[in-house]
Amino acid sequence: MSFRAAPRRARSPGSAGFAWWFGRQDLNKTLFIKTWGCQMNVYDSARMADVLAPLGYKPVDRPDDADMVILNTCHIREKASEKVFSELGRLRALKKRKAVGGGQMLLAVAGCVGQAEGAEILARAPYVDLVFGPQTFHRLPELVAEVREGRRNGDPGGVLDTEFPPESKFDFLPEEQGGQGLSAFLAVQEGCDKFCTFCVVPYTRGAEFSRPAASILAEARRLIQGGAREITLLGQNVNAWHGEAPEGGGHRWGLGSLVRAVAELEGLARLRYTTSHPRDLDEALMSAHGEVPQLMPFVHLPVQSGSDTILAAMNRRHTADDYRRQVDRLRQFRADLALSSDFIIGFPGESDADFAATLALIDDIGFAQAYSFKYSPRPGTPAAELDQQVPEAVKDERLAILQDRLNSQQRAFNQAAVGSVMPVLFDRSGRRPGQVMGRSPFMQAVHVAGDVSRLGALADVRITAAHPNSLSGRLVDSGPVEAASADALQAPEVIA
Ligand code: SAH
Ligand code: SF4
Ligand code: F3S
Repeated sequence: MSFRAAPRRARSPGSAGFAWWFGRQDLNKTLFIKTWGCQMNVYDSARMADVLAPLGYKPVDRPDDADMVILNTCHIREKASEKVFSELGRLRALKKRKAVGGGQMLLAVAGCVGQAEGAEILARAPYVDLVFGPQTFHRLPELVAEVREGRRNGDPGGVLDTEFPPESKFDFLPEEQGGQGLSAFLAVQEGCDKFCTFCVVPYTRGAEFSRPAASILAEARRLIQGGAREITLLGQNVNAWHGEAPEGGGHRWGLGSLVRAVAELEGLARLRYTTSHPRDLDEALMSAHGEVPQLMPFVHLPVQSGSDTILAAMNRRHTADDYRRQVDRLRQFRADLALSSDFIIGFPGESDADFAATLALIDDIGFAQAYSFKYSPRPGTPAAELDQQVPEAVKDERLAILQDRLNSQQRAFNQAAVGSVMPVLFDRSGRRPGQVMGRSPFMQAVHVAGDVSRLGALADVRITAAHPNSLSGRLVDSGPVEAASADALQAPEVIA
């Protein structure tokens, strides 16, 4: 098995100029991307499609129809990583079937598992043609060409490019962006320097990087022109963003300034940002919640634990009371602000008292929604080496208690909405004909009876019923129509 690491020479931009690599006969190709992980991966997958579009690759809905399949992967917990190898097994069979029929399928692994385990993937799954990481997908045209040249030269080795390049991929991504729809993601910050002891992100995404404000604003304008009414600014630690100000000259902005500037763009109805770190929540950002009407009153602020001992062992660099104070301050600017969070249960050394402190924090804050995970030891992270790993059965028991508590808070939060009128931005059809779905300011899914002409519009909805993961209601301007039934509605797939 030979690994051909991608050459380190400077690469040219991955843009339309590469169409000539492939000749006319190649300009009609199909692409399937499967995405796991966080919103950043969803954004990245869309950008990969943008990079490949000038080469003639058009998105399709099934791997069976695709000339190229990319698995955009997540390494955050063991389960997330394992999924990649089982999916690869299925794709291997598909690739074989295609080869028997005289066809070809280029198989690529991208994302955080690609970054962390690139060489191992090529060793374990030699039918994989290409592995690249989150920071090199702007090079896709050249990498695809390398795969093809390799084939021509009879070299069976897969191409590997998991470099952290000196150039920023954002400078090389095409301006042409495929439709992200009414609610669009925009990456403003990437990577992380915090090194929480449980987390792989600083290793898979690399050092913290902030895009310049001018390039973010330009992308936001393009998204709005392309139909976006809502933009979510993304970053692994989005509120650590400190990008170059539009005027340049070494001036920097914080996220509070960026939020204010994006909110002013004509045509944008709503603005959100995720994911925030409690340490980086400054006064300018908090006050924006009281001053910028487009900024939604919902913040995803992961706390992980309510125990100071565990927070210290996690290297979170904040205490439980710091978190409480931050939330109090946010609510001084916006009294109805709702919060979601992430929790890790069973971090090494977590005692019953530590767990009780987490439950106490949950009771104090009152979360509208939350994600909770059993601690998963990740190779190469400091916490994986700690003694006192918590037995699986204890983790299961605590997780059930915690989720019960969080679920009842979520139900209470949804129930409290019944009878109120909320602005809803409709962005998709409902499950049933004659239904449309949108989001409340607090990210709740809201279903109403209405037709697709509502999509893209904000409308007032009177909430008539609450369900565990959604609300139903009726349009205030449409008279006394029946409320849509929302039984069997699910929350969006839990990511990250
Ligand atoms: N940057 C964000 C979180 C990114 S990862 C932050 O600072 O909070 C998303 C979530 O995955 C984390 O908030 C954490 O709750 C969870 N997570 C990360 N590593 C994990 C691990 N090793 N085991 C279990 N959950 C983990
Ligand atoms: Fe991971 Fe978030 Fe901690 Fe960074 S701040 S190491 S992304 S959990
Ligand atoms: Fe997963 Fe990478 Fe996102 S590990 S959570 S895809 S940053």
